[in-house]
Amino acid sequence: METYNLEKYRPNLHFAPQKNWMNDPNGLIYFNGEYHLFFQHNPHDSIWGPMHWGHAVSKDMITWEELEIALYPDELGTIFSGSTVVDWNNTSGFFPDEPGMVAIFTHHLDGTDQTPPVQTQSLAYSHDKGRTWTKYEGNPVLKHSTKLDFRDPKVFWHDQTEKWIMVLATGQTISLYSSPNLIDWQLESEFGEGIGSHDGVWECPDLFELTVENSGEKKWVLFVSIGDDPQFESGSRTQYFIGSFDGSTFTAENNEIQWVDFGKDNYAGVSFSDVPKDDGRRIYLGWMSNWRYANQVPTEGWRSQMTLPRTLALRNIEDKLLVVQRPVKELDQYFVKKLDLNDVTIKSGEQKTYNIDGSSVEFVLNIENMNSKEYGLVIAHTETQNTVITIDPITNQLIVDRKNSGQVDFSENFSNRQEMKINTTDHVNLRIILDASSIEVFVNDGAYALTSLIFPDKTCEQVSIFSSAGDIKIANGYISASES
Ligand code: FRU
Repeated sequence: METYNLEKYRPNLHFAPQKNWMNDPNGLIYFNGEYHLFFQHNPHDSIWGPMHWGHAVSKDMITWEELEIALYPDELGTIFSGSTVVDWNNTSGFFPDEPGMVAIFTHHLDGTDQTPPVQTQSLAYSHDKGRTWTKYEGNPVLKHSTKLDFRDPKVFWHDQTEKWIMVLATGQTISLYSSPNLIDWQLESEFGEGIGSHDGVWECPDLFELTVENSGEKKWVLFVSIGDDPQFESGSRTQYFIGSFDGSTFTAENNEIQWVDFGKDNYAGVSFSDVPKDDGRRIYLGWMSNWRYANQVPTEGWRSQMTLPRTLALRNIEDKLLVVQRPVKELDQYFVKKLDLNDVTIKSGEQKTYNIDGSSVEFVLNIENMNSKEYGLVIAHTETQNTVITIDPITNQLIVDRKNSGQVDFSENFSNRQEMKINTTDHVNLRIILDASSIEVFVNDGAYALTSLIFPDKTCEQVSIFSSAGDIKIANGYISASES
C-alpha cells in the first residue's frame, strides 16, 4: 500500500476532506445550531470518480468535523450536486413529528455504447440532523426526455407564492421549476438564451435575494457556474446576473458578463439555506479549484478544498451594481495581530520587509498611492518561493503572479497570470488571507475578489511591500497570523 503525507499542503482555515477526492459544495445549510457542508466526493480515490455526498458540520464555518458519507450511489446512479432544505411545514409528508432536512440532488446514470447518460432529480430525507438519510421511494421526482445536461438542483422556499422553487442547470440555460411539496415539480421558465457567458456548460445555479448596501433596496441574484471547455483559456468559473424574480421568471437587468471572482480557483459556489432571519446574512462558499487542473494538483491522498465562507451583498460602484463579498466575521477570532502598520511611507524604488511566521496569515492594508507607477507585495513563502501581488495604477489592475509560488509544473495552465480590474488605485484597501495552499485577495472591502491556489513548502516567512517610480503610503493596516 502506498503511504501518503496527508498533511502536506493541508489548509488550516479551509475545509478539505481527510482523504480522497472532493469537488462542489452541496447542500449547504444551517440547522439546529450547526452549519452543514456536503460535498461531491469520491471515497475510493483522490481523482474524480463515482460521486457520493461527503458530509461535514461546523459551529462557525471555519473549523469542520468530517462525518460519515451522507449519500451513496444506487441503481438510479451516482450522486451529483444538489441542495438541502429544512421542510419546516412538512409539505413533503416526511416529517409528521418534527421538521427535518430534505436533500434534493441529481442522480447521474452513466451511458452505455447504445444509450446516453441520464440525469434526474431525486430526494432523500433525514430525521437526525443529517447523520443518516433515507432515499425517497418515488425517486426520481424530476426527469426530462431530451435534455442530457439536467442537474444541480438548488431549492428554496419562496414566501410570496408559498412554493418551493428549484433552479436547475439545463445545458446552456437555467430552468426554474416550482413545487408545493418537493415531490411534484412544474416548469415555470427558462433563463439564459442570448445573455451571459456560454463558454462552457452551465452548472450549479443559485438564486437568492441580496440587499444593496446603504439603501435597503433588494434585488435577486442568479449565480451560474460555467464548466471548463478546452476551446477557452480560463477553465471553469462563475458568473452572476442581477435582476428580479416574480416567483416564476427571473429577469436580468445587466447585459454585460459579471464574474463572481477573478482568480482561477473559485467554482460551483452556492449559498447556505436557512441561515436564521435575525442573522440575515447570505453566505456562500465555492470549490477552490479549477476543472482545468483539479485532478492534477500536487496534494497526496486528498484533493481539493473549499474557499472561505463569504458574506454577500450588493454595492453601487460608479452607477453599476456589483456583488461584493467578505470572509465571514467568524474568521476574525482565528487571527492574532502581529504587527500594526500606520503611516508607513514607501519611497520610490524602496521596499519594507517584515518577518511573518504562521500557518495562516492575514494582511489588511489601506494604501494611498502618492505617485507610484507600480506597487504591491511580495509574499515570500521560503527563500526561493513567493507569490507576488502587483497593483498597476496605469490600467487599474491587480495582478497575482504565482509562477514562483512553489509547485506549479503539474499543469501548464496553473501558473497563468491572474488579473482583475479594480475601480481605482488611488486608495486601495487590501485584505489578503493566506493559508497553507491558497491566497484570497479582497479589494476595497470586498468589491473585488481573487482566489488562487498555491503550493509552497511553507505558508510564509516574510512580506515585502514595494513601490516603483513613485511613493505610496500605508495609511493604516496590520498583519495577523494564526498558528492552529
Ligand atoms: C460541477 C459539476 C456538476 C456536477 C458535479 C459532478 O463541478 O460538474 O455539474 O453535478 O460537478 O461531480
